[in-house]
Amino acid sequence: MAPKTKAVRAVSLLCGLGAIPQAQAAVFDPLTYVDLLVGSSNGGNVFPGATLPFGMAKAVADTNSGSNQGGFTLDGSPVTGFSVMHDSGTGGSPSLGNFPLFPYTSCPGGEIDGCSFPKNDRVKFGSFSNDSVVAKPGYFGITLNSGPKVEMTTSQHAALFKFTFPNAAAGDKPLILQDLSDLSNSRQDNGTVSVDAKTGRITGNAVFVPSFGSGTYKLYFCTDFSGAEISDNGIFANSRASTSVKDLTVSRSINGYPLPGGAFVRFASAENPIYARTGVSFISSAKACSNAESEITQWDLDKYANEATSIWREKLSPITVNTTGVSNDFITSFYSGIYRTLVNPQNYTGENPYWDDGEPYYDSFYCIWDLFRSQMPFMTILDPASLTEQIRSLISIYENVGWLPDCRMSLCSGYTQGGSNADNVLADAYLKGLKDGIDWQKGYAAVVKDAEVEPYAWSVEGRGGLDSWKSLHYIPVQDFDYKGFGTMTRSISRTLEYSYNDFCISQLAGGLGKKSDQEKYIESSGNWRNLFKADQTSFRNGTDTGYKGFFQAKFLNQTWFNQDPLKCSNLDSTSVCSLQNSGAETFESSVWEYGFFVPHDQASLLNLYGGSDNFVSRLSYMHDQEITYIGNEPSFLTVFQYHYAGRPALSAQRSHFYIPKYFAPTPEGLPGNDDSGAMGSFVAFSMMGLFPNPGQDVYLITPPYFESVSIKSPVTGKTATIRNVNFDPTYQNVFIQKATLNGKPYTKNWIDHSFFLEGKELVLTLGSKESAWGTRVQDLPPSLSPYNSSSVSHTSAPAKRSYQPRFDRGMGFQ
Ligand SMILES: *[C@@H]1O[C@H](CO)[C@@H](O)[C@H](O)[C@H]1NC(C)=O
Ligand SMILES: *[C@@H]1O[C@H](CO)[C@@H](O)[C@H](O)[C@H]1NC(C)=O
Ligand SMILES: *[C@@H]1O[C@H](CO)[C@@H](O)[C@H](O)[C@H]1NC(C)=O
Ligand SMILES: *[C@@H]1O[C@H](CO)[C@@H](O)[C@H](O)[C@H]1NC(C)=O
Ligand SMILES: *[C@@H]1O[C@H](CO)[C@@H](O)[C@H](O)[C@H]1NC(C)=O
Ligand SMILES: *[C@@H]1O[C@H](CO)[C@@H](O)[C@H](O)[C@H]1NC(C)=O
Ligand SMILES: *[C@@H]1O[C@H](CO)[C@@H](O)[C@H](O)[C@H]1NC(C)=O
Repeated sequence: MAPKTKAVRAVSLLCGLGAIPQAQAAVFDPLTYVDLLVGSSNGGNVFPGATLPFGMAKAVADTNSGSNQGGFTLDGSPVTGFSVMHDSGTGGSPSLGNFPLFPYTSCPGGEIDGCSFPKNDRVKFGSFSNDSVVAKPGYFGITLNSGPKVEMTTSQHAALFKFTFPNAAAGDKPLILQDLSDLSNSRQDNGTVSVDAKTGRITGNAVFVPSFGSGTYKLYFCTDFSGAEISDNGIFANSRASTSVKDLTVSRSINGYPLPGGAFVRFASAENPIYARTGVSFISSAKACSNAESEITQWDLDKYANEATSIWREKLSPITVNTTGVSNDFITSFYSGIYRTLVNPQNYTGENPYWDDGEPYYDSFYCIWDLFRSQMPFMTILDPASLTEQIRSLISIYENVGWLPDCRMSLCSGYTQGGSNADNVLADAYLKGLKDGIDWQKGYAAVVKDAEVEPYAWSVEGRGGLDSWKSLHYIPVQDFDYKGFGTMTRSISRTLEYSYNDFCISQLAGGLGKKSDQEKYIESSGNWRNLFKADQTSFRNGTDTGYKGFFQAKFLNQTWFNQDPLKCSNLDSTSVCSLQNSGAETFESSVWEYGFFVPHDQASLLNLYGGSDNFVSRLSYMHDQEITYIGNEPSFLTVFQYHYAGRPALSAQRSHFYIPKYFAPTPEGLPGNDDSGAMGSFVAFSMMGLFPNPGQDVYLITPPYFESVSIKSPVTGKTATIRNVNFDPTYQNVFIQKATLNGKPYTKNWIDHSFFLEGKELVLTLGSKESAWGTRVQDLPPSLSPYNSSSVSHTSAPAKRSYQPRFDRGMGFQ
């Protein structure tokens, strides 16, 4: 989703020239290179806390930053609490962060009311020094300047917290409170909490609002303590607490901001660590307690943190790189990116209160408009078993809710941003051979419903404007649509996305032997042509850019609307470009950038843009002039689309133009919201040297950023390797001169998924100049229409147009 951030980012240039050679460790440990704090400030919005892969429990310190969507931020904002549920990298409102705990070494004067209970008051005890933060896979720790040190780890549905009080004086009685709030203060009526006088167990529940969707969700929790004798306990309402009251039900209150309320436990001594174990559940408090009791049986943080760390090490182990000569920064960006692809979606199997059909249930598909491009394709390679469960879950959501989601979080339907992009996810997985337990006939019925049946609420599922789509073969601007409802904007981007969705459906149809459907959806996958306006120009502050022929919106009466092709580009800081009802005809992106979104028929686009040289010139102009912004997902594929014009060398150069300049392994190092792990997967695929055209069995080849990368298939156990001959860690040699696949000459500039499944070896010989490798028509990636051999470059001749690509910003090429 990632609404663009316009802030200019001061990102340090991590040039490979200063590369520090790495000692080759006896056993390669990928976790050495995972830094959870990458993207924890400057709008990366990542969740940098403790979790298992796709785990429901995600524990971290929450801050009051304006950018605390993922809970914790490293931007000087103080901590407001420690909570168990989070999303990662999302835009929208801050997600989850329910029922935070907060510790005090003692209450002033020994009086309960001397402690601060409401979130807004307790922030003054929440400041911390950056140096005290330790974040690694499965573990998060921090020390508050007010004294308490708080460490945490998680199982699938519970977190274990360890509180130590290094500055405690004799007689101090620490207090730990638990608050019925969430990160976005969205609690609805009648949050409930109880504390057991004898054991100190706190249970409760509340109803909250999802961060980018409709409806509400109810979450339950159960917290037990250990480590010190209980002194007293009770509840608080607003700023006052009592040890004689043990139960509280609190309304939302009428003034907008929910009234603070919760429970607390005070302990007799601060000498030893105090543990808190919090289980969560969407089913009941009893289930929250049993989740915690069954998953965390001992008060031993190290034990569970070590277990979590081992699970992560195992999860990342299929991908190894030769680190020789490559700076730690590059390796860290790579593995931290890979790590983040495995944090979300979240496995809520057994925690769905609405249905249990025996299928897995995953949540936090946040949002598929972001995830389909590279994150879900990355899982196809590294974790097909989890992706298979996610796809089964998407199909189960279709069965039980009625439609595949485009976005979903906290058991609620999230807002659709463009097309029905789950169609692309299903096609991608099908073509790459995911099978186990996936009912593909049902999956096919789900994508056909997207194409054929308009939902009443197409703001959260399916597609809108289907009558126009079928009669006019495009989505008109200011459409007349009385059958279903959604924001009536984005007619250009919806037309382009629906076209590609239909192409993806056609491929599934083909695979499942449904010939006539295949032809039908191939036909409608060409609807993008209806919005191509051959004489559309693009002026920039009154000066013609020189490019002609752009997509444009069209009215119902088939006359043209007029949207400036630069509107909603990175150069436009004034337009409204998201889901607002005053939004544009393109979503979070411009006509310029959407001008390349015909992923299935690049050959036709090459013709429309006047052949390879003009296509290349236009693509380079878009990148060089910063019309596109790498911090939002529509840019991803454009980095590599030079392949389709027979110029794979320019894709390699463009990849180095963006990495590391826009992707540094620092808290502020991401160019935009990570969007679950979308940015992470972009970095991982780019540095691996294979970038997917998602929804197709195609990976575009560029040289890896390492001498070699090996990927062991979790499906077949075979290891695929990409090796660079003449590898140069200063990245001057990024041009493929020749290649072999399993020892035989290979001239295609793309490869398919059998590379991974069959454990092939791709050897690329590199040089410092663009070569003829991968440039011929027969070398180009598949396209629905045939390539026009007279318009595709056969040589590395420079573009004929006056505009020359600039590659001078990333690595000093010229
Ligand atoms: C902590 O780190 C963040 C991110 O690097 C930075 O913005 C902030 O100023 C740092 N705080 C201090 C006190 O150094
Ligand atoms: C909250 O509790 C009050 C008092 O019992 C009740 O009248 C009201 O209907 C409840 N609200 C909801 C949303 O359950
Ligand atoms: C790693 O790459 C270096 C060159 O960059 C090469 O000399 C070395 O043999 C490679 N190591 C392995 C194990 O292949
Ligand atoms: C998802 O969660 C369920 C229930 O906890 C578990 O059985 C399943 O193995 C999990 N899936 C994966 C891929 O770990
Ligand atoms: C087509 O519709 C648009 C928008 O309603 C209107 O401005 C335009 O005049 C119409 N053109 C014709 C030829 O009817
Ligand atoms: C037009 O000029 C202004 C001022 O120099 C600049 O900020 C803006 O980005 C320019 N617009 C385009 C589309 O280049
Ligand atoms: C193929 O390219 C040539 C040269 O650019 C052009 O004249 C011709 O019209 C193109 N053919 C098609 C079908 O676009």
